Amino acid sequence: MQILKPIRQRFRQALEQLLDDPALVESSLERIVPSRDPTLADYQANIAMPLQKVLGKPPLQIAQSVVDKLDLSDICQSVSIAGAGYINLRLSPSWLADQLQLAHADDRLGVTQVEAPKTIIIDYSSPNVAKPMHVGHIRSTVIGAAIAQVLRFLGHKVITDNHLGDWGTQFGMIIYGYKNFCDPEAYKKHPVAELSRLYRKVQAISGYQEALGQNSKLEQAIEFAKKRVEQVQTKLAAAPADKKIAKELAAAERQVATAIEELQGNHKKIEEAQKDAVLMAESKAHPAIYERVLAETAALHHGDVANLKLWSEFLPNCRQEIDTIYRRLNVHFDHWYGESFYHEMLGAVVEDLFAKNLAVQSDGALCVFLDGFDSPMIVRKQDGAYLYATTDIATAMFREREFSPDVCLYVVDHRQSDHFKKLFAVLEKIGLGHTDFRHISFGTVMGTDGKPFKTRSGSTVGLESMLDEAVARAMEVVCNPERLTGVGIQMDQPEREQIAQTVGLGAIKYADLAHNRTSDYVFDMDKMVRLEGNTSAYIQYSYARIRSILRKAEEKGHEPSEWSEASLNLTEPSEMALALHLVRFEEMLHQSMQEYTPNLITEYLYELAKLFSSFYDQCSVLSASNATEVRSRLKLSSVVAKTLKVGLELLGIGVVERM
Ligand code: ARG
Repeated sequence: MQILKPIRQRFRQALEQLLDDPALVESSLERIVPSRDPTLADYQANIAMPLQKVLGKPPLQIAQSVVDKLDLSDICQSVSIAGAGYINLRLSPSWLADQLQLAHADDRLGVTQVEAPKTIIIDYSSPNVAKPMHVGHIRSTVIGAAIAQVLRFLGHKVITDNHLGDWGTQFGMIIYGYKNFCDPEAYKKHPVAELSRLYRKVQAISGYQEALGQNSKLEQAIEFAKKRVEQVQTKLAAAPADKKIAKELAAAERQVATAIEELQGNHKKIEEAQKDAVLMAESKAHPAIYERVLAETAALHHGDVANLKLWSEFLPNCRQEIDTIYRRLNVHFDHWYGESFYHEMLGAVVEDLFAKNLAVQSDGALCVFLDGFDSPMIVRKQDGAYLYATTDIATAMFREREFSPDVCLYVVDHRQSDHFKKLFAVLEKIGLGHTDFRHISFGTVMGTDGKPFKTRSGSTVGLESMLDEAVARAMEVVCNPERLTGVGIQMDQPEREQIAQTVGLGAIKYADLAHNRTSDYVFDMDKMVRLEGNTSAYIQYSYARIRSILRKAEEKGHEPSEWSEASLNLTEPSEMALALHLVRFEEMLHQSMQEYTPNLITEYLYELAKLFSSFYDQCSVLSASNATEVRSRLKLSSVVAKTLKVGLELLGIGVVERM
């Protein structure tokens, strides 16, 4: 259901009588927007001022002639001119009631499908398998899934693709680990657990060896920084009053301090590792382990039969592990074209770029040079290896052939923003500029300690227990016997568990979505599952509360069949405010997809729940003064419940009938 569209349509008819230039009509229509001050108007058109020069008349006069030609009598109860020529619109209660009637009668709440659907690919979740999935991948999964659902709901053709990292160095790690450290019994019993153990072991050895190698580099850095201090000191001695040199000295001294700190940190890491005798023995037996890992990876990439066999044996196990998380989050993908899928294509892609002179030789590597970037994008390394970026180029080309997308969204952590900037420039250069490529970047999930959030075991198992914990907290907060007795609800254990699942998992998703996508946010389980504030539990509670009102009404003889047919009378200000917010649902969905910011949806739902709460405080529903009023308010409440439900479901969050 649209508000702006019919209003703009009427304005168009009026403006076309005044303006010859269609472009001017269009740009004027853009200036009709929801009012920022609801006490003045519901919508406001700031058309007259910008037309002053074109028409050579004072804005007030222009506004008046627009209003004279405007027929909004069915939509608005008042159209008035204010200030220097603003046109203020107040929607009419009966028109609002008609719109709500439409929403009430339709599963889609009257939301129309876009006239020109786009083909939109969403690349999201995309974890590196064989390596523990982390909380950032959950955020990508939750945000990507929500965007996909909303765009589909609006009528676009959405294709989701989980671009799994299933071909990188992490496989070299587990292949090396398997060949050297595998416990066959453990592997037989629980392959996933054994593979993660192997990954962590190889990682630990390689981390230790890297730290050892770092020592001399860090020592050199300190020497270098100290020399710099001496130089600046000499300079300062010659010009003691020079503030700039004094500042330079302070900066150089800070650099020494930082380098010393880094070296100390490194020593500590080494000392820690050296306490582990097994690790020391293994490190000794496997010197330069990272090079060996790279060699295993290269062998895999060059078609080594043994490594390929291991890879295809490991992959389903790794998939199974992440599938558990997807199942719990109820997330699905249309495709799983992982990195490995593109491997065979990379050679031809790079050759083609080279043949077209788009990629050129530089220091033995093949590179695409780009205007406006300090460094080129390397597509083939000196040693012949391809890179993450090469796969991304091949992926975009494949998607173009297969789906011809209008838009392609990559829902990936902000730390990859340089990669995507460069990638999009390359894609433009190689002739894919007609697709709107977007990096849907998001901030880091932080712990309450101010550091990037880590699950206790830092593994998928850790992620699962994080989900379990949210469910357990939800159980405590929502289903504790004291609270339930307080609100007069009796429920058995299965119902409690079901509610805790819906509320707990909803809390995690909602927190990921409600925070402005681009900023970091603090993962605070206590806050997430609260029943007050901008949380999913609050919205779910509002839904359940309305459902309970409707049930009570039925007990008192107000059958849904009766109030469903009743007409809506919006008389009280709180009813009007609620109605106005409800009819904006579609407009808000479009707005949230302009920059792909699902937090606009959570804000809308939070506001709706609050507006319902004030309506319920101010207007009696079941004990309203007459039956017509009772029915109208029951119907209004039911549209609120439906909107909350549809809204939450678009975000991948469920509702419960009571809580
Ligand atoms: N596997 C990557 C990671 O975990 C994310 C991949 C994102 N998608 C892409 N087409 N590059 O960091």
